[in-house]
Amino acid sequence: MTVRTSFVGAFSGKRVLLTGHTGFKGAWLSRWLLDLGAQVTGYALEPDTTPSLFSDLHLRSLMDSRIGDIRDADRLSAVLTEVRPEVVFHLAAQPLVRRSYAEPKYTFETNVLGTVNLLEAVRACADCRVVVNVTTDKVYANPETGDAFDEACPLGGFDPYSASKAASELVTAAYRDSFFSGSDTAALATARAGNVIGGGDWAVDRLVPDCTRALLAGDPVVVRNPGSTRPWQHVLDPLSGYLRLASVLLGDESLAGAFNFGPDPAAVRTVGELAEEFVSVWGSGSWSAPDTGAHPHEAAQLRLAIEKAGRELQWSPLWDFDTAVKRTAVWYRAYCAGESAPDLIEADLAAYEVAARVEGAAWA
Ligand SMILES: NC(=O)c1ccc[n+]([C@@H]2O[C@H](COP(=O)([O-])OP(=O)(O)OC[C@H]3O[C@@H](n4cnc5c(N)ncnc54)[C@H](O)[C@@H]3O)[C@@H](O)[C@H]2O)c1
Repeated sequence: MTVRTSFVGAFSGKRVLLTGHTGFKGAWLSRWLLDLGAQVTGYALEPDTTPSLFSDLHLRSLMDSRIGDIRDADRLSAVLTEVRPEVVFHLAAQPLVRRSYAEPKYTFETNVLGTVNLLEAVRACADCRVVVNVTTDKVYANPETGDAFDEACPLGGFDPYSASKAASELVTAAYRDSFFSGSDTAALATARAGNVIGGGDWAVDRLVPDCTRALLAGDPVVVRNPGSTRPWQHVLDPLSGYLRLASVLLGDESLAGAFNFGPDPAAVRTVGELAEEFVSVWGSGSWSAPDTGAHPHEAAQLRLAIEKAGRELQWSPLWDFDTAVKRTAVWYRAYCAGESAPDLIEADLAAYEVAARVEGAAWA
């Protein structure tokens, strides 16, 4: 592992609890926090993909990894009582729109009651100073006008996943107003990011892993909804936002609230454009969008306004669409050719920190 000193050393020696550490974003964030010198405890289910970034990064032995269900309030609370985290990042969720149509009850239990369980455990934890609840760009009521959503836009959610994340936002706001408004309580914030890409995601029903599996098998990439736009971003962009938010809140709890961490407007591209670019960087293969009949509803247009994060946190995204897709496709190609995930992650983190210094990022 590499020692990293960014975020003004805010995480060095800190006890950090990260739910969802066995997932895609959670594994990247665990690795970055370990490099920053944090004492990281994770709480999540066993990874449910093969391969998984969690296993490839050897996180089971590098951090304090607890396997448990976020719906199990007693077990979760026992872990917080034992670990006494100072900072909590909440990423554990059922994060897939299509699965939420198949399993709405499980999605609501995990994403809404899971948030309640976590915040109840935090209430009993005197040492906790900051909680960042990771939700999504899909929490906004979406009239499909193409306008960007800012943090004051109304919450909503057509499908169970989006609605569950909007409800998780409401739960967080209610707990902040009801139980965490005093100066000696934790600062509660929510973070709404766009569609994330990057090496090491192996989930089903996500565009980049689906592209990789098809290209490896020599099949054409099959894309649904090729005309839908999404705010694509490399995983390190929102993660830098979550870390920046937590580090600022450690010094100024008055900023507790909701923050969008989306890409530059130019990175809002269609699903078809991402498939095209991914296949082009991969160097072979093709993609198509056969009409396979009716699909469950998914938002056609999604944009995030990110002025608040720029103004209050001095945060901005660093990697544009082309860079994000290129680094992602190159990551998968190198991994599939036998390069190690820890080396590939290290290369991305190092390049990202260089970009941050060149751009004068406040956290670098
Ligand atoms: N990937 C994206 O594009 C994206 C975009 C916006 C927001 N998000 C949000 O970011 C977070 C992480 O997403 P991801 O892409 O890493 O997803 P992922 O599926 O790779 O990881 C999900 C994590 O949550 C854990 N989890 C799921 N159900 C659980 C349960 N019942 N109990 C305990 N742990 C449970 C899993 O074990 C895993 O560690 C989620 O909250 C998701 O909604 C993701």
